[in-house]
Amino acid sequence: MLVLGIESSCDETGVALVEAHGTAVPVLRADALHSQIEMHQAYGGVVPELASRDHIRRVLPLTETVLARSGAALRDVDVVAYTRGPGLAGALLVGAGIACALGAALDRPVLGVHHLEGHLLSPFLSSDPPEFPFIALLVSGGHTQLMRVDGVGHYVLLGETIDDAAGEAFDKSAKLMGLGYPGGPALARLAVDGNPEAFKLPRPLLHSGDLDFSFAGLKTAVLTQAKKLGAELEPRKADLAASTQAAIVDVLVRKSVTALEQSGLKRLVVAGGVGANQSLRAALGTVAAKRRLRVHYPELQLCTDNGAMIAMAAAMRLASGVEAPTRSYSFDVKPRWPLSQLR
Ligand code: KG4
Ligand code: ZN
Repeated sequence: MLVLGIESSCDETGVALVEAHGTAVPVLRADALHSQIEMHQAYGGVVPELASRDHIRRVLPLTETVLARSGAALRDVDVVAYTRGPGLAGALLVGAGIACALGAALDRPVLGVHHLEGHLLSPFLSSDPPEFPFIALLVSGGHTQLMRVDGVGHYVLLGETIDDAAGEAFDKSAKLMGLGYPGGPALARLAVDGNPEAFKLPRPLLHSGDLDFSFAGLKTAVLTQAKKLGAELEPRKADLAASTQAAIVDVLVRKSVTALEQSGLKRLVVAGGVGANQSLRAALGTVAAKRRLRVHYPELQLCTDNGAMIAMAAAMRLASGVEAPTRSYSFDVKPRWPLSQLR
């Protein structure tokens, strides 16, 4: 079975083709991605209307690229999957509209996928795929959640952020340090040359006993510190970046360990854009070695938004029977859609 996946929830157009056989782990045949980062950079963040228009321009050429790379023809596609939400409404509508049009034209089933389920299942495309059950640390631009995952469609929310997401903490801190958009990777790059202990920044909710997160206070502390430094900020920027990153990583690692301890599970899956952060990976590697835990990640290029994870999630939902293929081509999108509402 060949599943075409289309992702258009935010500022990346992603298309991919995944091949699935029964309950075996599906494999990626080809993928293609267009990032809108350059286009939005001038505005310091994503402009939703520009995002939608660019998705329209990119999605069909990317689909042709994916088919050419995989050696498959459009008629070989068995299922068309798209991101149904959460995300920007107009951007989501592009992927949904194209997917349903392709499905109708080809007379193939179409399946709307939850973006976060895509992130969650993306490590199954890696060379070291996890096994159920596991704890998932989902750290994207808009979400920071810890989840217990017992199988496809079996997600129990254990804790989440009560304000900003970890990705937002990276992005907002980077912005007020003048690092532009998207801030996460820029801040991480700068942090390499900084001292993570140079500034004492808060670790919100570190000892709260539950699995919730809060990063809004950290952003305020970074702003206060930056103002205090004034003209001294420039030469100390790497130190401030490293200290900010250390505070975020510290909280993510500690809460993940607590979730594993409380559940008695030994396997952690990290997914979402912040999962690309090397400092987070190094810190998790250290505790994993100490506590005999296994940590799984998506391949680096599949940490941020992509079409492969959407095709993958669709393939796994169909294979596990939680979803049946339908030939209904009327569609809606869900800009707000808690993963806990997904069956
Ligand atoms: O999952 P994702 O691509 O998009 C959403 O679904 O939101 O995540 C994007 C987030 C952004 O906040 C970005 O700054 C962050 O992931 N990010 C990083 C890194 N790469 C991406 N944060 C820290 N370090 C990185 N290397
Ligand atoms: Zn995402």
